[in-house]
Formats: sequence, structure tokens, C-alpha cells
Amino acid sequence: MWKARVFTLYPEIYPGPLNKGLYGKALEKKIWNLEVINIRDSAGDKHKTVDDKPFGGGSGMLLKPDVLGKSIDANIKKDEKIFYLTPKGINFNQKKAKQFSKEKVINLICGHFEGVDERILNTRNIEQLSIGDYVLSGGESASFVVIDTVLRLLPGVLGNNNSKDDESFEHDLLEYPQYTKPQIWEKKSVPEVLLSGNHSKIKDWRLSQSKDITRRQRPDMWKKFLEKEKK
Ligand code: ADE
Repeated sequence: MWKARVFTLYPEIYPGPLNKGLYGKALEKKIWNLEVINIRDSAGDKHKTVDDKPFGGGSGMLLKPDVLGKSIDANIKKDEKIFYLTPKGINFNQKKAKQFSKEKVINLICGHFEGVDERILNTRNIEQLSIGDYVLSGGESASFVVIDTVLRLLPGVLGNNNSKDDESFEHDLLEYPQYTKPQIWEKKSVPEVLLSGNHSKIKDWRLSQSKDITRRQRPDMWKKFLEKEKK
């Protein structure tokens, strides 16, 4: 069973969207499991303090290393991967999601305030992970993104396993456009080739559409695709 363990100051927001539809069913079937750890439970004082001012001055507060360290040490086993969600991290992407889906457990630490005391990252072998070039108020919404992306890759979660081969990012191309009934809608017809029944033509058309959309929307990805083609 694949497991996500989330460290947060807001445990009440989980499982949230991850308990709906196919993900909820997969949770019930024990294909995956979510463990939510309240970082505040590891605070030592009577006020349950989890943050403090940065040495050297500056705005905002930092998560205290002693509190976070205690929380991590009480809950994480040796050899499990630990990620701190932060805009300073390396990029999370489909490739990373695939790697995560092969782990038994991933640990996601959701920061708040201005960040964490830097010492916790090295002493506990924590990698920093970002879901994109923007700043969120905390790591929780990023944790939903990471877990969602992994869950759909787990065997038995989605109905049709084949559909994952064609999708965006799979071969450094975005997915081609798709159509369903009605065949004519608001005077617009579905592309003729899709009605032809000629599977090889349909495959060619889809590949050419994928290339077009990637070239237009994602020049960075298009460049990567061309480089791979050359090899
Ligand atoms: N926390 C704040 N911003 C974030 C981002 N872009 N990715 C991951 N965690 C974050």
C-alpha cells in the first residue's frame, strides 16, 4: 500500500479533495493511505509554540527546528524520503510523480510563516520541493497537488491503465485534442479523420496535433522533444 504522510499545522483540512471519487474509493480499498501529523503536537511549552523570529532580523517567523525535529523523529522511519514543500525547492513534475509512486512512503512537510530553520533540512536529510514558480501561503495546497499526481499513477486507482500512455508530458508532448458526441455541436463538426475508422490515420493526426500544441504552448518542451528526436 502506497502511503503519504503529511506534516502540517492544519491537519483538519485533510483528506479534503483526496477523499472524493476514485481516490476516496481507493482509500477505502486500502490501495493507498494518508497519515496526517499535527506538527503542533510536538511543541514542548504550554502555549504549544511552533515558530519564532529569525536570528539576524527580518520579517516573518520560522518553524522551530526542535519542534519539527521531534515531530519527524517520532513518526518517520529510517530510509523514507522526506520533502519540504517550498518555492525554493527543485521542480515537481510528472517524472518525479512516477518516482514517488514507486516509493512505499513519502513524507511531505508543509511549511508556513517565512520557512523553516535551515538546520532541519541537513540533519534530517530533507529535500526541498516546489510545485511551480509562484508563492503559496503554505505547503498544504502543494501537498494536495503532489499526492493527487501520484495517486492517479498507482495501479488500481484509475479505471483504464492505457489512458496514461497518451497523456500530456508522457513523451515530451502535450496531449492531442479530444471530442465526443454530439458529432455536430453549435454548427461545428468533429474533425473528419476521427470518424474515418482508419486507426493509423487517426494516430498520425493525433501526433501532429500534439506537436502543434506543444510548439505553440510550450516552446521549452518542444525544444526538448526535438533534441530527443535528433538522437
Ligand atoms: N509553499 C509555498 N509556495 C510553494 C510552492 N510553489 N511549491 C511548494 N510549496 C510551496
